[in-house]
Amino acid sequence: MSHRIPFNKPGVAGNESRYLAEAIARGHISGDGEFTRKCSAFFEQELGLQKALLTTSCTHALEMAALLLKLQPGDEVILPSFTFVSTANAFVLRGARPVFIDIRPDTLNLDEQQLERLLSPRTRAIVPVHYAGVGCEMDVILDIAKRHDIAVVEDNAHGLFGKFRGKYLGTLGCLAAHSFHETKNFTCGEGGALFINDARYAERAEIIREKGTNRTQFFRGQVDKYTWVDLGSSYLPSELLAAFLYAQLEAREQIQSKRRRIWEYYRQHLAEWAEQHDVRRPFVPETCEHPFHMFYLLAPSLEFRQALIAHLKARGILSVFHYLPLHLSAMGKSFGGKSGDCPVSETISDRLLRLPFYNDLSEADQARVVEAIQEFHG
Ligand SMILES: Cc1ncc(COP(=O)(O)O)c(C=O)c1O
Repeated sequence: MSHRIPFNKPGVAGNESRYLAEAIARGHISGDGEFTRKCSAFFEQELGLQKALLTTSCTHALEMAALLLKLQPGDEVILPSFTFVSTANAFVLRGARPVFIDIRPDTLNLDEQQLERLLSPRTRAIVPVHYAGVGCEMDVILDIAKRHDIAVVEDNAHGLFGKFRGKYLGTLGCLAAHSFHETKNFTCGEGGALFINDARYAERAEIIREKGTNRTQFFRGQVDKYTWVDLGSSYLPSELLAAFLYAQLEAREQIQSKRRRIWEYYRQHLAEWAEQHDVRRPFVPETCEHPFHMFYLLAPSLEFRQALIAHLKARGILSVFHYLPLHLSAMGKSFGGKSGDCPVSETISDRLLRLPFYNDLSEADQARVVEAIQEFHG
């Protein structure tokens, strides 16, 4: 059936069509034009970054990170089992072995207390995923990484504009990957960005993103011809995507205030029902400011979660589960993953339910979602 209240609708901020027309009129629609520069400058200024490079997806930003770290077959990368496949795939593509770490039951972020146990002489990187934009315990993670000379690559697909202890997520690891897929707060359909917080990676990042050539330096007039100098691929998005994205970034305050309202509404109006039914709402530690990316419920059991999805579906409301633990996927098992390795990820995956959440979700529709949930008693 077609859902009356979908799970997601890509947001349109207002100036997208105008900026697309401007890019077309300017006659430059391939990558790295005026709008790409505007988006990069926006991130660099707003977040105080050294360098932001737009990419074609978060997946590609993660692949760039794996190339930048020069990962080799046999190297190990520690990442949560409870994440999207790209967090692992980007590193596995370079021959690295994913070492799956379980998550904390409160924030659903990687359990930093288990990190030391999983380190080995081959560990080259830790990839914290800020689930739902709530920051991982970065102090502990960065301290361990520093002591063992390991890179930290933030998978910040959910967390743009979130903060940990007052610092923006995406500025804490040496590299950080972002997503502008249509489910994200800010979108251009498919897109991403790599934030570079360690100057050592800046020059090679430009080369890797430009098919392994020094074309970016050529355009800046730093070399008189460009050529193949390193590994690389085509990771830079077209100006059309950057034009669309810039319209969204410009509307940062407006988009974030809409999302704050939606998130707070769910939190407040579902409090009593959640309490009565042993359902948990998202937990945000005092150290974190989150960017209102998603609202989830943690049901007491898989059966309860499935019945609630069906109950909402029957009322034209689409709610969805999230990641299946990677260590139990076909690929994860090929790396030795087995049931019981990450028990928290396994139970959370069974019980988590995401509610409709998009910039233009009206209060009337949201009230319908809340009422439908309140009618459900397990
Ligand atoms: C944690 C995480 N990392 C990476 C990605 C991949 O993002 P993209 O679709 O931009 O490649 C996703 C997708 O939503 C994600 O949830």
